[in-house]
Amino acid sequence: MNPTIDPAAFRQAMRRLAGGVGLITVGTGDDRTGLTATSVTSLSADPPRLLVCINRSASAWPILKEYGAFGVNLLDANQQDLADRFAGKSGEKGAARFAGARWKSLVTGAPLLNGALAAIDCTIEEIIERHSHAIVIGRIEAVELGDWSDPLLYWSGVYRTTRDLPAVPLVRVG
Ligand SMILES: Cc1cc2nc3c(=O)[nH]c(=O)nc-3n(C[C@H](O)[C@H](O)[C@H](O)COP(=O)(O)O)c2cc1C
Repeated sequence: MNPTIDPAAFRQAMRRLAGGVGLITVGTGDDRTGLTATSVTSLSADPPRLLVCINRSASAWPILKEYGAFGVNLLDANQQDLADRFAGKSGEKGAARFAGARWKSLVTGAPLLNGALAAIDCTIEEIIERHSHAIVIGRIEAVELGDWSDPLLYWSGVYRTTRDLPAVPLVRVG
């Protein structure tokens, strides 16, 4: 390890990596909780797997492990209020984070957001606990595509969307 690397400098560098914003949702009923995450990454298409990096101090972490399943809900540009809520910005915890939106479940029972850009239902294939976080590999059990819409992005500490980039031609693939 290079002891001269300042974690603050690394954080500054990572703020320059633009990310799509998702909600990781876990539990059922009063046990429901979740967190906002930009660390959602496709791992492989065949077999369908994704990964997400979760801070092991997050309130959702023990529930995720207990249920062995989670939802990944990719947000559109009109869903910033949900991103704030699931990041704990206004202090809501647990099931209170789900208020004011409609939810359903598909295969695993994990909550999935009606109206998400895409909702992905996962069981846990593997957990790799490393440093403050856990790398959680999700086996895709179901996928639901919402209406086509501008994604919610997070870059340099601010929510943005592709609507902020009028000069960039948006090409829809698929
Ligand atoms: C835009 C954004 C992206 C985030 N991405 C992640 C992430 O990938 N992994 C993670 O563990 N926390 C991430 N967080 C932080 C969690 O959302 C936040 O710590 C959590 O919801 C609050 O924890 P609590 O449930 O213990 O209150 C992110 C926060 C924001 C605002």
